[in-house]
Amino acid sequence: MKIIRRKSDLRILTRNWHRAGKSIGVVPTMGALHAGHLSLVEAAHSRADRVIVTLFVNPRQFNKAEDLKKYPRTEESDAQKLVPLGVDVLYVPKPEEIYPDGFATTVSVSGVSAGLCGATRPGHFDGVATVVTKLLLQTDADCAFFGEKDYQQLQVIKRLAIDLDLKVEIVGCPTIREADGLAMSSRNLRLNSTARDIAPVIKKVLSEAATDIERGQSVRLAVGSARNGLIEAGLDSIDYLELRRASDLAPLETSCESGRLLVAAWLQGVRLIDNVPVGISSLSGAKHRLTVQSN
Ligand code: PAF
Repeated sequence: MKIIRRKSDLRILTRNWHRAGKSIGVVPTMGALHAGHLSLVEAAHSRADRVIVTLFVNPRQFNKAEDLKKYPRTEESDAQKLVPLGVDVLYVPKPEEIYPDGFATTVSVSGVSAGLCGATRPGHFDGVATVVTKLLLQTDADCAFFGEKDYQQLQVIKRLAIDLDLKVEIVGCPTIREADGLAMSSRNLRLNSTARDIAPVIKKVLSEAATDIERGQSVRLAVGSARNGLIEAGLDSIDYLELRRASDLAPLETSCESGRLLVAAWLQGVRLIDNVPVGISSLSGAKHRLTVQSN
């Protein structure tokens, strides 16, 4: 695996790959790699001839200077995790490769960025959209892989790729979870043992609320009891817990064919996010599972 830090060096390689008819898959990351990232690398291998992982801790997507300072920087161990997976390039751009002197452009996606994390982390999605656009262009990717755990981020990136005519296909990949259901995240490392014991309740409560909505309970009631469930289980506060339309994140008062229940909640100073699908298609899945169990 090559480690490349300059976009001019990367360009030589990607140009040669494309000339040789090879497709390029990219997995953008901020490092601190866990099994969730590694599953994106596997997905990239299954779709592309060459795989690039990018590692850039993007200052423009952090609202608080303190969060940026605290973000883990683990390039060496990240590289070690990627070698056995057959990654071709780890691209670790220097800050000036992304934000040259006088940088004055922002990619800002409206609509899907509104509300949810967009409301509680102002400017965050502008930072994400700007850096992802640059990384997709610099890597000359044919396909790019993002986890559904950051569901709103995934929709923002899908939107910008369509709107800016990027030739890349954006591929959303399922959330990877710990055995107890907690969605994998580099933030989980910041949970102390009490908080770590409480955290899996987030997925449990979300799944129960999703099932209740699918069975016909009003969205308001299901969301209300999910909120209570989280606070009773020990979560400190909830930034949002909302049902949205899966395709464009439009708010939903009632269930629809394809919805998404999304949450952001605080647990002992750590902000955790998660989401689950809600809809008629997953309800028919649940019915099928019920039939199988009763036989
Ligand atoms: O999800 C992340 O790790 C980051 O938001 C991303 C997509 C790499 C952009 O910095």
